[in-house]
Amino acid sequence: DQLGVVAVGFSGGQPRPGTDAAPMALIESGLLDQVRDELGYQVHYDNKVHDYSDVRPASDPVYRNMKRPATVSAVTEALQKQVYEHAKEGRCVLTLGGDHSIAIGSIAGTAKATRERLGREIAVIWVDAHADINTPETSDSGNIHGMPAAFLTGLAREDRKDVFGWITDDMRINLKKLVYIGLRDVDRGEKQILREHGIKAFSMHDVDRYGIGKVVEMALGHIGNDTPIHLSFDVDALDPMWAPSTGTPVRGGLTLREGDFIAECVHETGSLIAMDMVEVNPSLESQGASETIRAGCSIVRCALGDTLL
Ligand code: ARG
Ligand code: MN
Ligand code: MN
Ligand code: MN
Repeated sequence: DQLGVVAVGFSGGQPRPGTDAAPMALIESGLLDQVRDELGYQVHYDNKVHDYSDVRPASDPVYRNMKRPATVSAVTEALQKQVYEHAKEGRCVLTLGGDHSIAIGSIAGTAKATRERLGREIAVIWVDAHADINTPETSDSGNIHGMPAAFLTGLAREDRKDVFGWITDDMRINLKKLVYIGLRDVDRGEKQILREHGIKAFSMHDVDRYGIGKVVEMALGHIGNDTPIHLSFDVDALDPMWAPSTGTPVRGGLTLREGDFIAECVHETGSLIAMDMVEVNPSLESQGASETIRAGCSIVRCALGDTLL
């Protein structure tokens, strides 16, 4: 199998520096070698961590309550093109972030390529403590890593080309094909959005009630058989016990095994077309950094077909 890899050294969707160093940390710990040597992928990687400094604007004032809007827009637009180029060749695409704002670019790229290649809409499985579906208006923080799902579904829109106006309909995803697992810190405005649009979401309460096996089964059942899947995995879905080095940790999360299990089940569908691993921040909680990196690598390997037996 063919795997396209894009390393995105970007932390501008939130205030803490450090997530930009995560792709290098994940790769230096041997992730791509394992994927190549143990899982047998043909890896297409340009050996570069992209910071997109060439497309970033010189000045970037707050706009519609968004912090660094033109920077995040320019970075995600460039990423969209890279992911699209891999995906249109029929490669599975792995995007290593970076904060979760980069999913605007990765998912836009796979959505567009999959429409062109297969005439199909993609489904997105969003594994996260957070829903990241604030609109600029509902967001308290103004941090764009809390908004990617709103821009991707079209709940948030903007005409300015340099502030996500480049997102066209063919890059958007269907609200009915978005499903969450692991939620436990959802803002008030986000809850209203989830309810109003009937977006499928499995919180930690559901994981406790049904168990992870049943939750994944229900999530995949909602998407339906044979639908191309983009897995967007925020490492903060895991409990801080397993992934402490992340910008917005929330207690009461998934165990590492539950995270791996979700990834294994998505692999087993045979429908995985792309994956993001985001929000690893090696510079936070220095004792926990290596553990967090290890957790991120483990989940990626599971999604790409690593098995216990
Ligand atoms: N809901 C909060 C916000 O809008 C936190 C978002 C955290 N997102 C993340 N990708 N870690 O700012
Ligand atoms: Mn999160
Ligand atoms: Mn909150
Ligand atoms: Mn997130």
